[in-house]
Order: sequence, then structure tokens, then C-alpha cells
Amino acid sequence: MIARGFGRLTDPPASFLLAGARVVDPATGIDELRDIAVRDGVIVDLPADDLERIDASGLVVAPGFCDLHTHLREPGTEGETVASGTRAAARGGYTTVCAMPNTDPPLDESAAVAALLARAADAACRVRVIAAATRGRAGHVPTELEALATSGVVGVSDDGTGVPSERVVREILKRLAPLDLPLIEHAEDGEAAGGGVMRVGPTATRLGLPAWPPEAEERMVERDLALAEAAGGRIHLTHLSTAAAISAVRRARARGTRVTCDVTPHHFSMTDAWVGGSRRFAWEETSLVGTTGEPYDAATRVNPPLATREDALALLAAIEDGTVDAIATDHAPHPSHRKAVPFGEAAPGLVGLETALSLGLAAVEAGRLSLRRLVEALSTAPAEIIGERRGLPPGATADLVLFDPRARWQVEPGALGSASSNTPLLGMELPGVVRMTVASGRVTYRR
Ligand code: DOR
Repeated sequence: MIARGFGRLTDPPASFLLAGARVVDPATGIDELRDIAVRDGVIVDLPADDLERIDASGLVVAPGFCDLHTHLREPGTEGETVASGTRAAARGGYTTVCAMPNTDPPLDESAAVAALLARAADAACRVRVIAAATRGRAGHVPTELEALATSGVVGVSDDGTGVPSERVVREILKRLAPLDLPLIEHAEDGEAAGGGVMRVGPTATRLGLPAWPPEAEERMVERDLALAEAAGGRIHLTHLSTAAAISAVRRARARGTRVTCDVTPHHFSMTDAWVGGSRRFAWEETSLVGTTGEPYDAATRVNPPLATREDALALLAAIEDGTVDAIATDHAPHPSHRKAVPFGEAAPGLVGLETALSLGLAAVEAGRLSLRRLVEALSTAPAEIIGERRGLPPGATADLVLFDPRARWQVEPGALGSASSNTPLLGMELPGVVRMTVASGRVTYRR
């Protein structure tokens, strides 16, 4: 009998039969009702009647999710640990998370990368590491990129900020090209951002908060695309939030630039009006019952800031048409004391691993996204960016998520595996409940 609760990558491989599930596998193009049998952690041919049978009717099976942007906060002491963050991931359907390097101290050396990987060996999902792009994330001197590549990193980034110097970005891209690793850029021109704490617009005006203009993102995106084109390296633009940035990516792709990008669930579903107390999704005409928030709620402070409705809808359209490759959470846990302060002093970020699927499914219900593209953008597409294979054919190691797309759950701190609960979704009811997550053949979550 498969136990309920969380498992680890070091558990014995599992055996079970998922009966009557809707299998959505972008790797093989399958979307149909069928059984999936797993024996000793490997997907096997049917029949397999001796296996523990799990009734999966009404449920969806998809390849395990891969998050390109997770803050696990190790090393450091604030808001999350590898253990709690990977449990949150497993509960959200993730089998891989990529740990961001804006830790304390930053992950800018091979020894620190090795130490984190060792700590994550028995976690509730695979942890891959994104190392800092510059020493100390200070933006001046590239890290030892070649050595970091040998230690297994899947990309480099100074996330939290962009890399301001063109010269430094050019050197990084040049040196990364033969290593086939991407520079993962937090595209924000600090000068243009000008200390803004929320997006420019009527809500910022009404609340009297310093406003962040969309040009802060667009300028950096245009600069990075031009530099990537010249250097020939791979660039991955993370948490894009503006329609103009998406258009720039589209144009660069058409020119042949090697660019990939992701957007977050909060940027495609929430809007700057949330800072003013709205809890209406970008696609909604009217608010869900009982979901009105308070203005200046620090849980809505995030970087880049929540964008306009038009931006959010453009992000959704760009996921659907493939301009946006992946959905990444930017899961950014913060302890309550970093949020229980005036809005402009609050740490930016919100937790996202356990609500990403639900926000995506809410967009699917609203007719703004197809289930096939949602699954692809959460699983096979981000996995491919970091060189991981996904898919559900017989012979593959079982790496999957089983979820109920229609069941509802209430977002509450007690319902989250994360050590933090900084999200403006608290109290709201969302669709999509993960029933089981299987990573590398092990059951890492069962509900
Ligand atoms: O909102 C954010 N929080 N954006 C970032 O780029 C960093 C992140 C964090 O580390 O908290």
C-alpha cells in the first residue's frame, strides 16, 4: 500500500497501476484515457493486474513538473529550507526544481553548489542548481563558469537583479556558449525601475506608491536579445511580465536568436489592481465571492511587479502560442516579519510551487489556456531547457503527477508544505488538487 504524505528520492521505487486516467503527455502527443502501470519505478507495458490499483477516473496524469525558478533559501536562514521547499514542490506536482543563487551567501562557487546538491540528495524532489552569474552577484566579475558547469549547474543567473554591465553580459554569454548553458536573466534595468515598488498605473497613483515603469523590463530584454544575437550564446529570460517584452522575444525568435523565456502564474493571473485590494483574476469580469483583499497587502509585492490586465492576458496568449516556453513559479518564500511592514519596505516575492497548477487550471477553465499547453509549459518544455527528459512511454522511469483538475481546495497556511505562506491567494478557493507525485520512480507525495 502506498503511504499518504511525503516521500523522498531515497525511498524504494514504487509499483502501482493508475486505472482510467486521462493521460496528457506532450512528449508523445498523447491525450487519451488509458491505464499506466509502474513496476519498481519504471513504466511498464499492460496488463499488470498484480499491481496496487489506484482508481484514476476523472484524474489527469502528466509528466512531472519542472520549475526553472525556485528560491530554496539555502544557504541562509530565512523562509524556506531544502526540506520544506521540496515538500512544497512535491505537493505542487513538481519532480524537479532549479534552486536560485540569491542565497546568503550567494551560490557562486562549485563547493557551494556541491554542498547544496549533497543536502538535496534525499529531498522530496530533484534539485538542480542555477549558480550566480557574477561573483557575489555583484555584477562586476563573472563567476568561474567553466568550473561551475563541471559541478552540474543548469544555468547561471544573478536573479533578484539583472546583470547591469553590457561588457560582463557579453563575456558571460561568450563563455557559456561552448558549455551549452543559458544565462538566466532577471530582466530589469535598475536605473529605469527607479525604486518603483508596484507597476505604473491608476492603482499606484491612487495608493501613492512609487511606480515601476514597464520600460524597466523592456529595455533590459532588448539589450539582452541584442547581446545574445551577437555572442551566439543561449539566453533565458525569466519572469517576463510585460506584453512589450513578449513582442521583443517574438521578433528575436524570428531573427533566429537562441532565446527561451518563462512567465510566472502570478503574472498571468493577477494584476496591479491586487495591490489595491482586488482579487479578480485577469480574465474575470467579476470577482469570486469573498475574495476581496486589503489595499497595501505586502503579499502582493513582487519583483517584477504585478502587471496590467492587458499584460496578463498577453502572457497567457503567448503561453498558448508557444512564444513563452515555460511557466516558472519564482517561488519566493519570506518569513512573516519581512512582510508585516509598510508595502514599500516589504521583501518582494510570493510562494508559488503549490498554487501554480491551480492558477493554470483556473486559466484553462476560463478558456484562456489549453490543458495540453499548460501541462507542456509546466513539464516537458522547462525540462528540455535544462536538459532533462520527460514523458510517459513504457520503459521510462516513472516521473509523473496525478491531479484532479476539477476538485477545489482552499489556500491556507496549514494546507501548504512550504515553510512560508506569503501569497495573496490565502483564503481563496482554487481548482486543481494533486493526488500523487512520483519523482525518479519514487512516490514523493500522495494525498
Ligand atoms: O519577487 C521576487 N523575489 N523577485 C525576485 O527577483 C527575487 C525574489 C526573492 O528572492 O525573494
